[in-house]
Amino acid sequence: MIRTKDITKSFGSLQVLKGIDLSIEKSEVVAIVGPSGAGKTTLLQIIGTLDAPDAGELYINDTRIHGMNDKELSAFRNQNIGFVFQFHQLLPEFTALENVMIPALIAREKPAQAEKRAKELFDFMGLTDRMTHKPAELSGGEKQRVAVARALMNNPAVILADEPSGSLDTKNKEELHALFFQLRDQMKQTFVLVTHDERLAANADRIIHIRDGIITPE
Ligand SMILES: Nc1ncnc2c1ncn2[C@@H]1O[C@H](COP(=O)(O)OP(=O)(O)O)[C@@H](O)[C@H]1O
Ligand SMILES: [Mg+2]
Repeated sequence: MIRTKDITKSFGSLQVLKGIDLSIEKSEVVAIVGPSGAGKTTLLQIIGTLDAPDAGELYINDTRIHGMNDKELSAFRNQNIGFVFQFHQLLPEFTALENVMIPALIAREKPAQAEKRAKELFDFMGLTDRMTHKPAELSGGEKQRVAVARALMNNPAVILADEPSGSLDTKNKEELHALFFQLRDQMKQTFVLVTHDERLAANADRIIHIRDGIITPE
């Protein structure tokens, strides 16, 4: 599903990733953990094709991500990768339903089709009664679940999440984490999660430890 080979990345004279090899299978929940500054976000941005490595190879769904122009890359990302960030990043002027529909509309799906799929996702999330609310009218936990629905909209190969529960209280944190495992079990969804949450990491199918830009055994 996802494979990287010897990925390196520097910012100026600072080498942040020093040769990352990893392989993630379909329907796996993988947790990336490590100290602050270890390179976790940089790695996730590269896997998400939001940033390019200096060297090395990235394969998503057997496609080598290499030499695509910005437009091709955006289309590839829209079709194959879902993102969940620490702060939901929903668009404030749109309803929850509209926010979830946006990735499908960008992919030029018919609005009626997009709405049908989005409503199914709200139903799955138990958020149907929140659909017409704007983000400001939703709780933190609801906003993150809407962000997960948005990430799922185009049936991505993988959902990448960078500290997705970092700003939630315990109850909402646990609900969000349970949702990830429910989506793995029921939709075979693949997740790569950067997290500081020890319980989430412990429940993941696999933990990848990163320290100083390399993968370490612990
Ligand atoms: N765009 C950037 N420009 C310069 N330095 C950066 C940039 N992004 C990250 N860094 C640096 O790279 C290192 C790793 O950052 P990051 O990948 O965000 O680590 P983590 O997510 O593990 O905390 C840090 O020292 C950070 O300051
Ligand atoms: Mg980070």
